[in-house]
Amino acid sequence: MSFSRRGLLAGAGLTVIARGAAPAAKSRELSRELTRDELPTPCMVLDLDMFDANVRHMADHSKAAGISVRPHVKIHKSADIAKRQQTAGAIGVTTATIAEAELMSAAGIKGVLWTMQPAGKHKIQRAVALSRRDPHFMLVADDPITADMLDEAAAAQGTKVRVVVDIFAGLTRHGIAGGAEAFALAQKIEQSKNLKFGGLMAYSGIASHTKGWEKRREQSMKDIAGLKETAEMCRKSGLTPGILTGGSTGTYNIDPGHLTELQAGSYIFMDTGYTKIGSKDQAGDRYSDFKSSLTVLTTVVSARHKGQVTIDAGNKALLRPTDEVKGHPRMIIENQGAEYGIVKFNGDRELKLGERIELYPTNLDMSTNVYDKYYIARGDRIIDAWPIMGRAGAAQR
Ligand SMILES: Cc1ncc(COP(=O)(O)O)c(C=O)c1O
Repeated sequence: MSFSRRGLLAGAGLTVIARGAAPAAKSRELSRELTRDELPTPCMVLDLDMFDANVRHMADHSKAAGISVRPHVKIHKSADIAKRQQTAGAIGVTTATIAEAELMSAAGIKGVLWTMQPAGKHKIQRAVALSRRDPHFMLVADDPITADMLDEAAAAQGTKVRVVVDIFAGLTRHGIAGGAEAFALAQKIEQSKNLKFGGLMAYSGIASHTKGWEKRREQSMKDIAGLKETAEMCRKSGLTPGILTGGSTGTYNIDPGHLTELQAGSYIFMDTGYTKIGSKDQAGDRYSDFKSSLTVLTTVVSARHKGQVTIDAGNKALLRPTDEVKGHPRMIIENQGAEYGIVKFNGDRELKLGERIELYPTNLDMSTNVYDKYYIARGDRIIDAWPIMGRAGAAQR
């Protein structure tokens, strides 16, 4: 056969680059502008103007409030997006996985912070190797055992590792107790020959989605109290506390004055959970500080049953009953299998075979993990495509 996948896609304005390959400054995935009708579904579409407005709002607010932003990239896994965040003033990026950290560092992003403690030989070695390649790289530890293993591995590789103490902040998945225990770990890191003490982290994952601004403020203050206590102990002992990192899209206007930097991630896209947590300056549960810029475009593939249609986004596309149909808030989503979803009209207008609708996803980091690119939209025009990276296999997640 003479045709190739590359050739076929090129005909549709699409070319293929290896997943996980370092991105070019401008995406090479789109060789010409497309319209929404031409896109393969299901796919992710990013409204560039809304996205830019979100990046700008976070940057402007943080600058005025005197706090830095080190945005979380688990939400987008895109070097193109990280670079835009950095251009807007971000001091680096926060990552959930070592693969994300490696990718961002290799893409030239300075100030990468990895927030899952490395455990076991594989991740310790990988983290230390990244520290050797990128002296700005930082990681967290919540256990003296990790500090010892990192110190030993750093000695063997002839490098230094910057370590931030991860302090318990309400989520029992991680974090050493704030106060004496965290302070002792900070001192241990400071005194370790091959480690550098970088600061303190307390990520309040409970506060982020707490409904009602005042309740959210109370939760966040409660959850970061251990960090504040530890920072005070450091100062009193003459140990500079370094960065005080944490926070989220929900607490971006709560944590300034208490932390030195925010790890907010979802604000660039927003998900259907975040749009209902309530704003500071507005009654009700709408959270309109940031715009819903990201949708999943899907096509109606069958319309044989009254009151509902079938769409080509199903479990594999991470469809959730809590997703919402753009422009049709009454419609109800149901899962129907790996490749199928159901949309029930619920009193809204009927959808037709072949029609396309856009869905607001529920859980951004899960969703972006199953797509390979963002189609970048300006109005109806698709002007670019940005690869989603670091998701090609277990070791890359
Ligand atoms: C450690 C950490 N920091 C920050 C964030 C970003 O929070 P959000 O996306 O709610 O802004 C997350 C998200 O899960 C996280 O796990």
